[in-house]
Amino acid sequence: PLVTTTEMFRKAYDGGYAIGAFNVNNMEIIQGITEAAKEENAPLILQVSAGARKYAKHAYLVKLVEAALEDTDLPIALHLDHGADFEICKSCVDGGFTSVMIDGSKLPFEENIALTKKVVEYAHAHNVVVEGELGKLAGIEDAVNVSAEDASYTRPDEVEEFVEKTGVDSLAIAIGTSHGAFKFKPEQCTRNAEGVLVPPELRFDILAEIEKRLPHFPIVLHGSSSVIPKYVKIINENGGQLKDAIGIPEDQLRRAAKSSVCKINIDSDLRLAMTAGIREYMAAHPDAFDPREYLKPARAYIKELVQHKLVHVLGCNGK
Ligand code: G3H
Ligand code: 13P
Ligand code: NA
Ligand code: ZN
Repeated sequence: PLVTTTEMFRKAYDGGYAIGAFNVNNMEIIQGITEAAKEENAPLILQVSAGARKYAKHAYLVKLVEAALEDTDLPIALHLDHGADFEICKSCVDGGFTSVMIDGSKLPFEENIALTKKVVEYAHAHNVVVEGELGKLAGIEDAVNVSAEDASYTRPDEVEEFVEKTGVDSLAIAIGTSHGAFKFKPEQCTRNAEGVLVPPELRFDILAEIEKRLPHFPIVLHGSSSVIPKYVKIINENGGQLKDAIGIPEDQLRRAAKSSVCKINIDSDLRLAMTAGIREYMAAHPDAFDPREYLKPARAYIKELVQHKLVHVLGCNGK
């Protein structure tokens, strides 16, 4: 059966690694991820956004994940990503998920507490765990200046009160990661010796402050795709046009995984790998029109990508 993240996070915290939380939208994505985890014997979080539920329908995603469970002997948690209100969280609790996120990070502090607490009360009564969020991730569309951006990092002086009053099981924080494949503008970056763009470093100082205030408490990082150049290159060499795609450097993600960060969210990297597989196949086979033909290399790239993450970024293989 599906598991909650309680045991996963406890082991990850003590073992100095992180669990990968991968966004799923269809069968090929689920198969690519779970085949990789099976080979690496890694615990997994499969997460579903409101958009994924709308696209594939709740029941299809639950059944596909159940099929993946039959196929692997792994601990897998099924998690709602970015629940916007009580209703969607309740619907996922009632519908078989083992974990939900209530994202009240855009609300004033007290309102975020009240909403998160309400979700925790319902979820815990049904043996489901809850992720809350404090701080705002910089989005690609936010034309924020440095001081405004500064104000949106998680405030360490709020975390204890938030966790205490809400009873959440994990906390997502903002320390400089961001959603999507264009996390930084080139002008925010410097160039290394090889001419590769290097984005500003994550705020490990803020993470350290949070750890001090919340000892042994699992921290979550959203917006943590590394935007692997290999897949961007394949896309752009086969008709795509992704200019200045920039992610979080993997050495920083490895450093985070060794800390109190127990869950690292990855969606954009899956999208890039899948698109690379499809574009490459279609460009080489202009006469192809059997979806199985072009989804097969797409699924294979997802598997390759996830295997790389589990072993070389998260460190959760064999756990
Ligand atoms: O954080 C958002 C995830 O990448 C899910 O994206 O809402 O387009 O499914 P989505
Ligand atoms: P990326 O866009 O960096 O993959 O982040 C995904 C995420 O945080 C999902 O909640
Ligand atoms: Na960790
Ligand atoms: Zn997110």
